[in-house]
Amino acid sequence: MSDETTTPNANFKRRIFSGIQPSGNLTLGNYLGALKRFVEKQNEGIETIYCLVDLHAVTVWQDPEKLRHAIREGAAGFIAAGVDPEKSILFNQSQVGAHAELGWLLNCVARMGWMNRMTQFKDKAGKNAEKASLGLYAYPALMAADILLYHATEVPVGEDQKQHVELTRDIAAKFNHDYKVDFFPQPTPVIEGAATRVMSLRDGTKKMSKSDPSDASRINLTDDADTIAKKIRKAVTDPEPLPETLDGLDGRAEARNLVNIYAALSGKTPAEVLGEYGGAGFGTFKPALADLAVSVMAPINTEMNRLMQDPAEIDRILGKGADKADAIARPILEKTYEIMGMVRSR
Ligand code: TYM
Repeated sequence: MSDETTTPNANFKRRIFSGIQPSGNLTLGNYLGALKRFVEKQNEGIETIYCLVDLHAVTVWQDPEKLRHAIREGAAGFIAAGVDPEKSILFNQSQVGAHAELGWLLNCVARMGWMNRMTQFKDKAGKNAEKASLGLYAYPALMAADILLYHATEVPVGEDQKQHVELTRDIAAKFNHDYKVDFFPQPTPVIEGAATRVMSLRDGTKKMSKSDPSDASRINLTDDADTIAKKIRKAVTDPEPLPETLDGLDGRAEARNLVNIYAALSGKTPAEVLGEYGGAGFGTFKPALADLAVSVMAPINTEMNRLMQDPAEIDRILGKGADKADAIARPILEKTYEIMGMVRSR
């Protein structure tokens, strides 16, 4: 599988690509693990391309009206969180047909054995793999297409997407090897910060997820200030006070999660948070975390609601972003077809 020592992509300029599925509410996990970091990368002046991956969303059933709403709301969430459509390319995947086309070509490069090892498929398909869509199985090859279509070199993601980005590297390497070219770069998963895996507020051993049946398990970008504060106050914890050092969080998944969330929201390290709150009980820590979460998340919620008043403007932004994305993607797709030996005479 991937070789971490591969030399950097000397022939490729730095370019960032990442995506989020518009399959329900965006969560605090999406925000801390992805969105917040998308904004940081954008503001570092690197070329950044961000996508609402609606083709991925439909690998499981989506009600059409709800999907349409979720795409617009997702775009509003990106913008409210600080993604600036003038600085980053922001679009939804289905508007750039090259994603589906390269996805097909990479289906023919990826191997069944590689796909069989993907843990997200196993988690999502569960015991009922026979009934899962073919799209859900091929999902990681489409994700590889998303990234490679732009010759992206870095992919900011949460911990759970690492395996998919590593698969992308394998697909790129096999393509380059089979066709004897140095055409696709080796993208690096960029997994940084204190909250690369935000856990459920009800169970510290489970990832915070938009698909968890319990709404109390997550904070949504659509939650208002009162809801955010209430969910944090009600988060499951143990009765012990917070430890003074990180070691003391071993075996205390819920406590660790809340400390990590505090750290990521405040820009501090978890050790600094324990330096401040070590010895304090949750009666002190939870209200402090609730205030912090409200101060960061509630303005995003307010701005999202404002943007959602004008869906036509959101559609215009996504359309413009798709044009810009297409201008980069099309030539790379054409070159891929050419390398593979297809006749392109129009
Ligand atoms: P998705 O939509 O599940 O999640 C979007 C991003 O949010 C991160 N994330 C989390 N980070 C920390 N803690 C959590 N609890 C948490 N939950 C979600 C994810 O790691 C991800 O970075 N396959 C991708 C979407 C995708 C993509 C791409 C990503 C499609 N094509 C190309 C990068 C590049 C997914 O399902 O993410």
